[in-house]
Amino acid sequence: MKIVAFIGSPRENGNTAKLVNTICKEAESNGHEIEIYNLSAISNNGCIACNACQLNMVRGCAIDDIISRIFSKMQIVDLIILGTPIYFEQVSGLTKNFIDRMRMFLDYNTKTSMLAEKYSKYHSW
Ligand SMILES: Cc1cc2nc3c(=O)[nH]c(=O)nc-3n(C[C@H](O)[C@H](O)[C@H](O)COP(=O)(O)O)c2cc1C
Repeated sequence: MKIVAFIGSPRENGNTAKLVNTICKEAESNGHEIEIYNLSAISNNGCIACNACQLNMVRGCAIDDIISRIFSKMQIVDLIILGTPIYFEQVSGLTKNFIDRMRMFLDYNTKTSMLAEKYSKYHSW
C-alpha cells in the first residue's frame, strides 16, 4: 500500500512527529511504501480563495507550488495520514492552512471529495 504522511507541528522532534514516525516505521516494516512530509518545512500561505478549483478554471489548485505537487501524489496513494498537535482545541495553523488548500479535492457539482474513496476504504483503522 502507498502511504503519504504529514506532520503538522513545527517541532521536528515533537509529539506529533514521534507519533507519525512511529506509525510510519511500523507500516514500512510491514512492507508499505511511505513518504513523510513535515508541513513546517513546506512554504504554504494557505488558500487564496480564488475559487478556480471550484469553477473548473483549472485542474487542481491554481497555486503552482510544492503543495499542489504533493496533492497530485495524494490522489494516487491508498492512505493519507495527517498528524496535528492541538492548538486552542483545534488543529495547528500549519495543519489548517494545509486543509484549506485541500478545497481543490472537492467537486463543486457533486459535492463529493476526490479523497472520499480512500476514507471509505480504510476508515475502520
Ligand atoms: C499555541 C498552542 C496552543 C495549545 N492549545 C492546546 C489545547 O487547546 N489543548 C491541549 O491539550 N494542548 C494544547 N497545546 C499543547 C500542545 O498540543 C502539545 O504541547 C502538543 O504535544 C504539541 O505537539 P508537538 O510536540 O507535536 O509540537 C497547545 C500548544 C500551543 C503551542
